[in-house]
Amino acid sequence: MQASRIAGVGMYVPSNIFTNNDLTKYMDTSDEWIQERTGIMERRYADRTRETTTTMGVEAAKIAIERAGITPQDVDFIVFATLSPDYYFPGCGVLLQRAMKMKEIGALDVRNQCSGFVYALSVADQFIKTGMYKNILVVGAEKHSFGLDFSTRGRNISVIFGDGAGAVVLQPATKQGQGILSTHLHSDGDSAEILAMYNPGTHANYWVQNNVASFDEAEMGEMFMSHAMIDEAQNFPNMDGPAVFKKAIVKFPEVIMEALAANNLQTTDINLLIPHQANLRIAQFVQQKLKLTDEQVYNNIQYYGNTTAASVPIALCEAWEKGKIKEGDIVCLAAFGSGFTWASALIRW
Ligand code: ACO
Repeated sequence: MQASRIAGVGMYVPSNIFTNNDLTKYMDTSDEWIQERTGIMERRYADRTRETTTTMGVEAAKIAIERAGITPQDVDFIVFATLSPDYYFPGCGVLLQRAMKMKEIGALDVRNQCSGFVYALSVADQFIKTGMYKNILVVGAEKHSFGLDFSTRGRNISVIFGDGAGAVVLQPATKQGQGILSTHLHSDGDSAEILAMYNPGTHANYWVQNNVASFDEAEMGEMFMSHAMIDEAQNFPNMDGPAVFKKAIVKFPEVIMEALAANNLQTTDINLLIPHQANLRIAQFVQQKLKLTDEQVYNNIQYYGNTTAASVPIALCEAWEKGKIKEGDIVCLAAFGSGFTWASALIRW
């Protein structure tokens, strides 16, 4: 089967830097707490009115497309991963297709949160393998800053997230043994509510749990999102941080080892591991567990925070731009997040 390779990478982060000290103006937190628990020093926030998840995705895509040596009109499929879409529907894929004046190609949105980009890459890889498409644009982008609780109530989550976008162009590999060697996707829905944004949504949990499940006429228009839900911060993400942490440090190493085993490789064969930038402590734990050197792991959460679906392609692009990825290198992408879902991709560059 035809392997796929990453022919171009791109990233975009807003120019507006928001430091930990900036956050202390809104909530009871400190630079010391945030750095000690997460490693984050600052993050970027999109321009409130001029930048959206799609516009950031477009900026990253332009660079990836140019580096792949093609034009937007050559792209024959879009896979867009995000948890913070411009609209509840339609997804960002079609908005990007419109903004980049692409042909009437297929556009698919992936909703797998932190592992969204690796899932999206895996989907694109299958389309190249079957020969269906030749130039697939895979984007991961987030505008978290619009949907966070900036009061002390939401501090365990709001301090973590940042905005940005990353993109790659997948093409058929041109050399034997080059490209995506394998991808590995997993989920465990038992923990879906541990890291979730509950509303707006079509479940009736809020009404049932609050004993207001009488569906009389007055409530019909309110079921999806009501003033009461907003008062109770139901429109913001919810996370049991320690529970996520505990699961992440097990599943990250597991899915990396699964990728290596599938290709008869060892941890010493990894030239660069790019873990989803969830928390620097998680990445350090994974590094220790797998006995990887500092040179084998790339982290940039210190400067961008957790950009969810954008974190892996942003880190990949930055590492590539710094010359840390060379032809023939074994690059491992790995992610874990809400769902829970987790995934890895092993690539020979
Ligand atoms: N500033 C100051 N204090 C805080 C803050 C803050 N921003 N946030 C929480 N605290 C307090 C808590 O209230 C608590 O106080 P208490 O002991 O008086 O009750 C104390 O700090 C410890 O809280 P924990 O939640 O136990 O802190 P922990 O050390 O676990 O760190 C964190 C929290 C950073 C969220 C960590 O658990 C973590 O990183 N978890 C994993 C996050 C992750 O990877 N998410 C997945 C990606 S996101 C996605 O998929 C969408």
